[in-house]
Amino acid sequence: MKETSKEIQEQKQYIQKIKDIIKNENKTYSILTMGCQQNENDSEKICGMIEEMGYIKAENQNDVDLAVVNTCCIRENAEERLFGKLGELKHLKEEKGIIIAIGGCMMQEEHITKKIKQSYPFVDMLFGTHTLHKFPEDLYKVLDEKRKLIDIIDIDGKVYEGLPIKRDSNVKASVTIMSGCNNFCSYCIVPYVRGRERSRMPKDIIEEIQQIAKQGYKEITLLGQNVNSYLRVEREKNIEFEEYKGINSFATLLREINKIEGIERIRFISPHPKDFTDDVIDAIAECEKVCKLVHLPLQSGSTNVLNAMNRKYTKEQYLNLVEKMKAKIPNLTLSTDIIVGFAGETEQDFEDTLDVVKKVEFEQVYMFIYSRRIGTPGDKMENQIPEEIKHERFNRLKELVESQISKNNQKYIGTIQKVLVEGKSKNNEKMLTGRTDSNKVVIFEGNSNLKDKIIDLKIVSEHMWYLKGEVDG
Ligand code: 5AD
Ligand code: SF4
Repeated sequence: MKETSKEIQEQKQYIQKIKDIIKNENKTYSILTMGCQQNENDSEKICGMIEEMGYIKAENQNDVDLAVVNTCCIRENAEERLFGKLGELKHLKEEKGIIIAIGGCMMQEEHITKKIKQSYPFVDMLFGTHTLHKFPEDLYKVLDEKRKLIDIIDIDGKVYEGLPIKRDSNVKASVTIMSGCNNFCSYCIVPYVRGRERSRMPKDIIEEIQQIAKQGYKEITLLGQNVNSYLRVEREKNIEFEEYKGINSFATLLREINKIEGIERIRFISPHPKDFTDDVIDAIAECEKVCKLVHLPLQSGSTNVLNAMNRKYTKEQYLNLVEKMKAKIPNLTLSTDIIVGFAGETEQDFEDTLDVVKKVEFEQVYMFIYSRRIGTPGDKMENQIPEEIKHERFNRLKELVESQISKNNQKYIGTIQKVLVEGKSKNNEKMLTGRTDSNKVVIFEGNSNLKDKIIDLKIVSEHMWYLKGEVDG
């Protein structure tokens, strides 16, 4: 038996032990997920483990026996949120003696764990990104030995298979294909908190997706900090890996997933423009289930800033890649991430970003104000941009993006779109909500038995962040 499988077997024994401790006690838990889809996927695994122990998800966040926070550290506002939450949890600890466990990316940052130990000593358990699979053992020690526990390691985690998982949706599932990042973009904390790139084995991924398809899931999103370098480290360093059905790259993985019966939509986030090879473009074009919306993080449109960010492509190379993709992939739409106000960004650099946005006409732009992260090269750069200039540029970018989105939305009006129905709209109970292939939200009136189905809708109007549709025919 592989060493990692043995470790998971051990954790399953701890799950059983906790089950025995809390049985018949109707214990409840809550989880606050603060980060990206990778972080959400980790939370689904934490929930899977906790529910197997016998805890029930609480309806009321203020009445729980176990409170878990899964943190993110990509930008500064996540820190404020965590410390705000810890203030709330302190009262629950004092009043009801609940157990508090804090995990995730922020726990890999020493200055944060130090602060928690000093200022929030009531927290019972801290766990990092590389020790997530040991959650049952750690919680058992907290429960049985009534002690506080810190389980954070710095070295790169291994790939663990077979953890229980409790997915948030019945129709859309995220599947991690690789973890970690080797790119070291100079603004980014991820390589420090998630470690080096490592890929899951093709057979494990395919078998997981086959199982998900059998359970009725229709859409999957492949996750990784750098999805299109799937198995790259293994190939480049001649590290032996088990090939399965000819899968030895991201493109071959997409092609094989495309064959899995029951799966109707395949998405992936996030690829890196520098690794967007022709075989991946061909696979997207030729695999009918791969959605024709591709997320292609730009970060900046200025070659100077891209250089300072260590992104390894120029403005022209990005635009050429977009042209090539548009030529090869019919009906391609693109979304992107942009950081405004990175160190050294001049007015001219910012204009270059606006220029790329004008040229590409993205379907969606996720905009971020640069946030200095301790330990990254960007934080040590001297030419930081004053906050008011960052905000002023952010607003100008937002204005441009919004004008483009409302113009772009017009092209949907009168068209028939395939929409995966997710359920009732949060803002209007009488309406249903779903998403197009291009990930646009569509709101429409319909029977609730349409939930989890892919149906044709005629688009009748646009409202910036969503479209309105009608059941066709
Ligand atoms: N400041 C602002 N935005 C950031 N991102 C990553 N690091 C930072 C940072 N320090 C953005 C990038 C990335 C997205 C997930 O978050 O645009 O693609
Ligand atoms: Fe996700 Fe990065 Fe935030 Fe971690 S730090 S939760 S990997 S966005």
